[in-house]
Amino acid sequence: MMARPLRSEPHPWFSPIMEVRFARPNELALCLDVRRAVFIDEQNVAFDEEVDGQDPTCIHAVAISEGRVVGTARMRILKSGDARVQRVAVLANHRGRGLGKRIMDLMEDEARRAECSRVVLDAQVAIIPFYERRGYQPEGEPFLDAGIAHRFMWKRLRSGSGP
Ligand SMILES: CC(C)(COP(=O)(O)OP(=O)(O)OC[C@H]1O[C@@H](n2cnc3c(N)ncnc32)[C@H](O)[C@@H]1OP(=O)(O)O)[C@@H](O)C(=O)NCCC(=O)NCCS
Repeated sequence: MMARPLRSEPHPWFSPIMEVRFARPNELALCLDVRRAVFIDEQNVAFDEEVDGQDPTCIHAVAISEGRVVGTARMRILKSGDARVQRVAVLANHRGRGLGKRIMDLMEDEARRAECSRVVLDAQVAIIPFYERRGYQPEGEPFLDAGIAHRFMWKRLRSGSGP
């Protein structure tokens, strides 16, 4: 009887090519690396505006591709009962693979679990269609944040009418 060859590499079925989940405490620095690359280096947002001191009060998502954190977002439950999503970012060379959508799905599932009535966010005007595809609607006039045009958007999580 022939001995089965030993595998030197994990079988591809067992290696998570892409994974989206909540960040572990030791992964916050990796989330910040993604945000630094996307918002500071790519979009020229000032460091002090990007790192605003609110990270400890947020839950953070990570999108992992081949073992590397390539996407992130953070969410905070507000006293109003809304969940506020911020800092949605996927590294440029990993966009268009569904990671942004999966990050938003994860955050919305958590907001539902926390019985939030809405998810709210300030969308960069250029990214509004990404959020509209996910059921968000814009409200109010555009405004500047970190020198970038934004618009408030919201999505209702439970049945009901109006904002
Ligand atoms: C916005 C961003 C997170 C999207 O991430 P992504 O992984 O490329 O998005 P996905 O691949 O999951 O795309 C999901 C859907 O949104 C659409 N989409 C993605 N980016 C879009 C954009 N900029 N404009 C319009 N539609 C977009 C995709 O075509 C896709 O549509 P489909 O569901 O019909 O196939 C990413 O482009 C990014 O990091 N941008 C720079 C940072 C930024 O501006 N963040 C938003 C701050 S408000």
